[in-house]
Amino acid sequence: MDKNELFSILNDWNFWRQDLDTGIVRITYIERFKYLSTSNQVITVTGPRRAGKSYLMRQMCSVLMNEGIKKENLLFVNFEDPRFTSLDTKLMDQIFSTYKEFLSPKGEITIFMDEVQEVEGWEKWVRMMHELKKAKLIISGSNAKLLSRELGTLLTGRHLDLSVFPLSFREFLEFNGITKTDKLDLVTLETDIKGLLRRYIEFGSFPEVVLSEQKKEILLSYFGDLVTKDLLRRFKVRKSEEMKSLTKYYLKNAGNLTTFSSTEKFLELTASTVEKFSSYFEDVYLVFFLKRFSFTVKEQEKSPRKVYAIDTGLCNTIGFRFSENIDKLVENIVFLELQRRQAQQPEIELYYWKDVHHREVDFVIKKGQKISELIQVCWNVSNPKTKDREIRSLIKAMDELKKEEATIITEEHNCVENVKGKKIAYVPLWRWLLG
Ligand SMILES: Nc1ncnc2c1ncn2[C@@H]1O[C@H](COP(=O)(O)OP(=O)(O)O)[C@@H](O)[C@H]1O
Ligand SMILES: [Mg+2]
Repeated sequence: MDKNELFSILNDWNFWRQDLDTGIVRITYIERFKYLSTSNQVITVTGPRRAGKSYLMRQMCSVLMNEGIKKENLLFVNFEDPRFTSLDTKLMDQIFSTYKEFLSPKGEITIFMDEVQEVEGWEKWVRMMHELKKAKLIISGSNAKLLSRELGTLLTGRHLDLSVFPLSFREFLEFNGITKTDKLDLVTLETDIKGLLRRYIEFGSFPEVVLSEQKKEILLSYFGDLVTKDLLRRFKVRKSEEMKSLTKYYLKNAGNLTTFSSTEKFLELTASTVEKFSSYFEDVYLVFFLKRFSFTVKEQEKSPRKVYAIDTGLCNTIGFRFSENIDKLVENIVFLELQRRQAQQPEIELYYWKDVHHREVDFVIKKGQKISELIQVCWNVSNPKTKDREIRSLIKAMDELKKEEATIITEEHNCVENVKGKKIAYVPLWRWLLG
């Protein structure tokens, strides 16, 4: 590629000669970035497409500049720029030398490589740069497997991960102009917060969707991109209609139990195809599969999984109707929040619980060797039959797992009850999310 042409592409993504939009600061991630960047490891920014990784990386550039690093010492490369003709390590060499030639940076260089998995052989290049201490590296990707496979072999013990999700409820409030969420403000803001919570459940929390009026349209286009670009193209799948049906099936069934063989019957795909496609969906962070809690690994592996989606807005746009499925959507919201917490505390493990009498508890949280929390989601506890059922399951699980306390997440209910000597705390979803 011609040097001048290359430089002009690079220039578009860098702060060297212009200011770039960095959007609304996502403080939790920035704090974590600051913490991770004190190490000498490669930082990997991973998460679903459209979760805000590129914006966050630009915010990281700002942070570094505010800390006094010169803008010439930062190089941002967006490998999804269609003007790049061949995506290989030769291009990377050429980018690096062109950058140095045009800007002559002095001192330490930091390179941001956005959507790095697009580049053939990127991992060798990253490792070489890191090992020879030619630059600090921050790389991003929208595919778990592609990154982890290569990182696993070539960058073992050399990288730290920052997982990015669509907005947490706290971030969502910030994007809606509610920035102060300490105890005092919560009281005065309660009505606003509850109204916003419904939107959070209905349209999900992809940043762009949150900020735009055309929510459904954007969600539809995200879904289209995900299927065509991330799944069909990347995994070279030929059965495109079947794959699409399966994505829809999972989005419709968020919060339900699923096995590859039961899905097989439903969609007329073989169980092995279902399994293969499902692992692709996990790779691009479209869905998650939650395992059943068991003291034996074998039982855990053979039990059905619960499927959850990356965003409830996608479920509502592609899958099902909001009002009919609020319980499942809320369960999905709780799951996602637990995923965020897990990303910050890797020692956490998540499961659901179920016994032979089909009693179920939505979430079991294990911290190290200990069961740290049991959580049941029950949106409407005013129906005594439902409430009774949820409590019975919970008590059973508490007995089995030797827990004296548990939480039920509700719409409004806010109190503590003693049942059979055990403590059950009812917490409204919005409070729990802000907890
Ligand atoms: N922090 C933010 N502030 C404002 N808008 C954002 C922010 N993060 C993401 N967005 C919006 O969401 C879109 C997708 O974000 P992007 O960073 O490109 O996601 P990714 O790189 O993960 O695919 C952006 O084009 C922008 O409209
Ligand atoms: Mg991006």
